[in-house]
Amino acid sequence: MADDRATRSFSQDRQKFVSILSGELMEIPEKSKLGKCRSVIEFEKLNRVGEGTYGIVYCARDTKSNKIVALKKMRMEKEKDGLPISGLREIDILLNIRHENIVEMKEVVVGKSLDSIFLVMEYCEQDLASLLDNMAAPFSESQVKCIMLQLCKGLRYLHENFIIHRDLKVSNLLMTDKGCVKIADFGLARKYGIPTKPMSPKVVTLWYRAPELLFGSKTHTTAIDIWSAGCIFGELLAHKPLLPGRSELHQIELTIQMFGTPNETIWPDFPQLPALEQFTLKQQPYNNIRHTFPWLSEPGIRLLNFLFMYDPLKRASAEDIIESSYFTEPPHPCEPEFMPSFPQHRLKRRQAEENPKEEVKPKLNDSFKDFGSSSSESATKKRKQSL
Ligand SMILES: Nc1ncnc2c1ncn2[C@@H]1O[C@H](COP(=O)(O)OP(=O)(O)O)[C@@H](O)[C@H]1O
Ligand SMILES: [Mg+2]
Repeated sequence: MADDRATRSFSQDRQKFVSILSGELMEIPEKSKLGKCRSVIEFEKLNRVGEGTYGIVYCARDTKSNKIVALKKMRMEKEKDGLPISGLREIDILLNIRHENIVEMKEVVVGKSLDSIFLVMEYCEQDLASLLDNMAAPFSESQVKCIMLQLCKGLRYLHENFIIHRDLKVSNLLMTDKGCVKIADFGLARKYGIPTKPMSPKVVTLWYRAPELLFGSKTHTTAIDIWSAGCIFGELLAHKPLLPGRSELHQIELTIQMFGTPNETIWPDFPQLPALEQFTLKQQPYNNIRHTFPWLSEPGIRLLNFLFMYDPLKRASAEDIIESSYFTEPPHPCEPEFMPSFPQHRLKRRQAEENPKEEVKPKLNDSFKDFGSSSSESATKKRKQSL
């Protein structure tokens, strides 16, 4: 972060850099300690809104602009040397993209010690996981269409820019009070090129993981995000997770129960997938989507099945989904601004107002001393598990 010559890396004690040119340890000059980044003490911490695999997220007020923002503290515990790769990828990707259905990253700020780093993002009032957990009635079909269209517009933009998100799920979808859906959490996202490099099949939270990954494929394509989008679509319609596996094996079983056993005819690359050597698959010839959503129209069933094509090459693209006749038939998608507004489950504002001792407004310089101590954590842990 320091603004001198770029040829350095963090040393163990984090207050010095090692010059790559000379190999010498060098003190970081005072004026360069924060580099061009602002300090987190310019932000007033208001509330802790979430915690996932890679970071803790706070709602905070930027005291310079008076705007409310989200601050994601990068997790560093496991890092001995420098910044975690997930955090660097997230910063790199978010800094280079801009779309109304993708959470906007405004800047990176640093804490007092150089090893705390925060991403400053636009603040979104809800995430879909906490909403689903706290809503009394499910979303109506026109609201589901509104959410899916926005998700797919964000996804189309990412895929056009050669980015695979690799962790789409309801807790990574945010919604503003104006009904705008934003894709968030780019900790696992990757840029891909041709030829594709082999990558770990252990990505994407289990419930949303595509069959090619479950069967050990190391080729990641945009189709893995589409499968996850299908799981989100099913979850919004059914008001419960579609394929809530407890283990990889159970996830495979649930997938087969829902869509039938894959074979070479429908998926030519299937017999070559690495994990197949370890399993004997149960033969289940039926597709149970129609049975699971008996009330859904023909275009709705067709669309779901298009998202859940076993063969990633045949699976829908984000553009295909947006173009689907499901979105032009009644009930029509509602406009985002007409989405209902919801109480802010995560912020627990009332609780803070009624019990000011628990949510004391900190003095400015105090703001980020006690990171991690306040707790108004959101949403079920089970959706957030990342296996
Ligand atoms: N910009 C934001 N505005 C409001 N809440 C957010 C924002 N970003 C994240 N959150 C909340 O914090 C949670 C964890 O953030 P996320 O970026 O998904 O981190 P992780 O990589 O740890 O899963 C989200 O599920 C959401 O509830
Ligand atoms: Mg997350």
